[in-house]
Amino acid sequence: MSTETPPKGDGSDRRRKVTTARLAEMKSRGEKIAMLTAYDFSFAKILDRAGIDVVLVGDSAANVIHGFETTVPITLDQMISHAASVVRAVQRALVIVDMPFGSYQGNSTLALESAVRIMKETGGHGVKMEGGEFILDSVKRIVSAGIPVMGHLGLTPQSIYKFGTYVVRATSEDEAEQLVRDARALQKAGCFAIVLEKIPAQLAERVSKLLAIPMIGIGAGPGVDGQVLVMHDMLGINTEFEPRFVRHYARLHDIVKTAFETYIADVKSTSFPNSDESY
Ligand code: KIV
Repeated sequence: MSTETPPKGDGSDRRRKVTTARLAEMKSRGEKIAMLTAYDFSFAKILDRAGIDVVLVGDSAANVIHGFETTVPITLDQMISHAASVVRAVQRALVIVDMPFGSYQGNSTLALESAVRIMKETGGHGVKMEGGEFILDSVKRIVSAGIPVMGHLGLTPQSIYKFGTYVVRATSEDEAEQLVRDARALQKAGCFAIVLEKIPAQLAERVSKLLAIPMIGIGAGPGVDGQVLVMHDMLGINTEFEPRFVRHYARLHDIVKTAFETYIADVKSTSFPNSDESY
């Protein structure tokens, strides 16, 4: 059997498992990283079959699955349940699990315990944490335990009560310079990638060029190493949230609503089930 690396373009890349090392390779050869969120088995299966590179089990589950206004209330147990369902569906993509609010901010021992629970109870491949310099001890401790960590800077929704609004972050020079320092510090602490949320495109491009690890943008323009969106937003399931950084790849809300309306009408009119649909 040949041990040579198969030539590119033969479909092998679409079957090869995605690892953190592979994301670094993608950055170095300029291939963009595609990441989306998923929270359950069925959607995660479709995403993986479509060839997504990274599946994020985001704490946005708090909003789009549980109906909370912010991401603050979701618990570690709830995140673990979502992540375990996603992992059961995924064969190729890298699965990263958000550490929810309260599961790591206290101290690095708590952070490590939470990350270990996520890894053991879900089978996920790494964790994501929001914040910069103030979480460095926890990042270092988790990374030294062998757990890959993705950072998250810019708009960090778990701190919504500190910011008070979801507007674009790092528009002032001071905040932009702090973000650059945070990104460098996270890279030094061992993060394998960083999500940059809702910051000016120029700043995101600058950070992506400065750092060796991949920057994944959401509302951060095209100059980053990859993009992430919340699946429910890009599929148009969620009609109440339409910021300009979301592109709709489907309008599932309307399609699904029409299907439900048609079913209800068929039941009422007794056209469902017909004789072919009966035993
Ligand atoms: O929770 C989430 O979905 C996220 C993305 C917005 C990056 O953190």
